[in-house]
Amino acid sequence: MHPYPFDNRPNPAYPDPMDRRKFLASSAGILAAFQGDSLARAQSAVASLGGRPADTVARDEDFWFNIRHAFTVDRNMINLNNGGVAPSPKIVMDTEIRYLEMENLNPSYYMWQVLDPGLETVRRRLARTFGADPEEIAITRNASEALEIVQLGMNLQRGDEVLTTNQDYPRMITTWQQRERREGIVLKQIKFPVPPPSMDYLVKIFEDAITPKTKVIHICHITNRTGQIFPVKKICQMARARGIETIVDGAHAFAQFPFTHADLDCDYYGTSLHKWVLAPIGTGMLYVRKNKIPTIWPMMAAPDSMQDNIRKFEEIGTHPASQRNAITEALNFHESIGPERKAERFRYLRKRWSNALRPLPGVKILNSEDPEQSCAIGFVSVEGFDPGKLHDYLWSKYRIWTTTVTTPGEYSGLRITPNVYTTLEEVDTFIEAMTKVIKRGSIPA
Ligand SMILES: Cc1ncc(COP(=O)(O)O)c(C=O)c1O
Repeated sequence: MHPYPFDNRPNPAYPDPMDRRKFLASSAGILAAFQGDSLARAQSAVASLGGRPADTVARDEDFWFNIRHAFTVDRNMINLNNGGVAPSPKIVMDTEIRYLEMENLNPSYYMWQVLDPGLETVRRRLARTFGADPEEIAITRNASEALEIVQLGMNLQRGDEVLTTNQDYPRMITTWQQRERREGIVLKQIKFPVPPPSMDYLVKIFEDAITPKTKVIHICHITNRTGQIFPVKKICQMARARGIETIVDGAHAFAQFPFTHADLDCDYYGTSLHKWVLAPIGTGMLYVRKNKIPTIWPMMAAPDSMQDNIRKFEEIGTHPASQRNAITEALNFHESIGPERKAERFRYLRKRWSNALRPLPGVKILNSEDPEQSCAIGFVSVEGFDPGKLHDYLWSKYRIWTTTVTTPGEYSGLRITPNVYTTLEEVDTFIEAMTKVIKRGSIPA
């Protein structure tokens, strides 16, 4: 079986199968801002929402209609797999393209003299959003790189134990398994039901699995399967009290819902920026608690003089500056919408489809309904329906793009991840398509 059976990635074994005036006031400003390149105007347009609560704005289709116009996505397909990787708004893509053209004018001058210094602004902005010191933030190509830097760079001895779950990301599990084979460390994967009985239950299963040999706890902030949000702070503080280090996989969490490092208190945090930040594809971030930086070996070698410097993790040789430098624009866009509004919109969209499907025969919604434990990611399994065939049917008949997820021996189904540009009409088409096929009792041949 392909090691990464998620997110429609190529698989060699399995080929691809408001009222009117308010509307005008806010929408005209937002449209102009997103179609041009002035985010300051977007921010003032959003300010015209007049401080209405995020859960009210979540239902304001006029507001979201205009957000949608910031994207140049294919409108003839309904993308409900934004969790895999997400499109950037046009303003971010345009910025990336401008930087790309610039770096080609004279790469060794423009990349190294002009664009690379701009990375310090990116670092500062990421640090502010994450609530950390810029000297604790490295810019990486994705979450995999960020997490593997820590996973492979930690000093561990034969017999040392790492605790994670069997619902963590396969590549991250593969990384620990390689260290098992190479160095004799021991990986323990804890199972948990979805949705779990409570957040405290998730803390307890980790606490109970700790032994004197446990050196690391590695958890998802939010899983890429059913979208379960973990009680990260409780687990990290429980671990620290026992001298155990904590790595948090935030690939899906950063900018999906609001939080800062103070809400987590982890030692290490790795995330993609090409998922919920909507930054260019090929961007990620690593946080390392300052006093831990000297203890982690970089994945690609750095000089001894960089031992205490977070930039040692960026010593990867020549690479494009264009994606990284456009991260700032993505953060501007994210902040223009507002992290709370975004999260509330995601919860609203998820509830819309999951509440409609839940009463249908054989349907199980496996994400939690507790807002503390769930946000954009929803998960549906339908008894008697093969998720792969359901995925193919939705695609071929309705051009609805989803992804299948299987946790072997436990559950399988469709993971549904809309985005800020998703319309109610698109969500309702998904509901209609699913309702018809489920009521029919089988997928038409
Ligand atoms: C939970 C989780 N961790 C890590 C990753 C790896 O992210 P990337 O492919 O951006 O490296 C993913 C990707 O989907 C993920 O869902």
